[in-house]
Amino acid sequence: MFEGKKVLFSGMQATGNLTLGNYLGALRNWVNLCDEYECFYSVVDLHSITIRQDPATLRKRARSLLMIYIAAGLDPEKNCLYYQSHVSGHAELAWILDCFTYMGELNRMTQFKDKSAKHADNINAGLFTYPVLMAADILLYQADVVPVGIDQKQHLEITRDIAQRFNAIYGDVFTIPEGYYGKVGAKIMSLQDPSKKMSKSDENPNGSIYLMDDPDTVMRKCKRAVTDSEAQILYRDEQPGIHNLIDIYSACTSKTPEEVVKEFDGKGYGEFKMAVGEAVISVLKPLQQRYAELEKDKAYIDEIIKANAEKASYVSSKTLRKVQHKVGFPDRVR
Ligand code: TYM
Repeated sequence: MFEGKKVLFSGMQATGNLTLGNYLGALRNWVNLCDEYECFYSVVDLHSITIRQDPATLRKRARSLLMIYIAAGLDPEKNCLYYQSHVSGHAELAWILDCFTYMGELNRMTQFKDKSAKHADNINAGLFTYPVLMAADILLYQADVVPVGIDQKQHLEITRDIAQRFNAIYGDVFTIPEGYYGKVGAKIMSLQDPSKKMSKSDENPNGSIYLMDDPDTVMRKCKRAVTDSEAQILYRDEQPGIHNLIDIYSACTSKTPEEVVKEFDGKGYGEFKMAVGEAVISVLKPLQQRYAELEKDKAYIDEIIKANAEKASYVSSKTLRKVQHKVGFPDRVR
């Protein structure tokens, strides 16, 4: 369909403020892939309502996320950037795939366990079948590659299992996708508790650096980052706080962790934390500037939303029609 080009799909939830973890683990790796792949990046708003949302806030955040995609360097002429809710095929395929997914498989998902513990008053069926919707997102576009952070690995594995199961029954319907994880930054941890991932939904705002944090806030959070009393900058599991700061610095400067260790050999934590803060600020600054410009151009963003939803709908309908035919739904009369 795309002149031999492979297809790439990924998405982010418009829930909460995007963190440096989202950026370093995913978004940053998405830029510059469009020459090699036909790229689809969705704002996955259907996924967002598995947790109760304020409607006006969700709408605002979804638009803001789409602008962040562009501000981070994704050219909307070359990448299909769209809202999941504007393409009905996601929900339609998810229903079909629900019927090819076992309760036992979904029960094993760690994200379901974590989220249901966190939202014990709202353990809805959508939260349980969340990974099936994610599988539908990916399989709908026949994606070869899915760039994500490590926390999504289990969801990618279940996607592959569902696709293989379906193909075993109906023939080669779905491309089996591969996960793509960055070398550094695939799991950025909280600055306040380096045993937990940096998360949009962390209650302690000092644990996460948000993409829209101003330079002073970034520096303050870096300076306050939890470390240890070893007083040496080494890249090892016994020093999780320092390990995480090395990951952040390394991802922001494109230096390897080994180069970072050498650079800060014999230096103090204070100096290192300042350098980390500066590196983060210099990565966020151009993104924030571009975002501020985009905010002023409502017509341009609206046009992107419309054109890209049409493209995504057209591409995804090919797979959907094929799947509907395979499972035995009556063909449409033209
Ligand atoms: P979400 O919105 O939680 O996160 C978006 C992306 O950011 C990555 N990420 C991180 N990477 C490194 N360190 C962290 N601390 C960190 N936190 C988040 C995530 O791995 C992800 O790549 N279920 C998905 C959204 C989704 C999706 C899809 C992704 C829905 N359908 C299809 C890929 C393909 C999610 O909630 O990501």
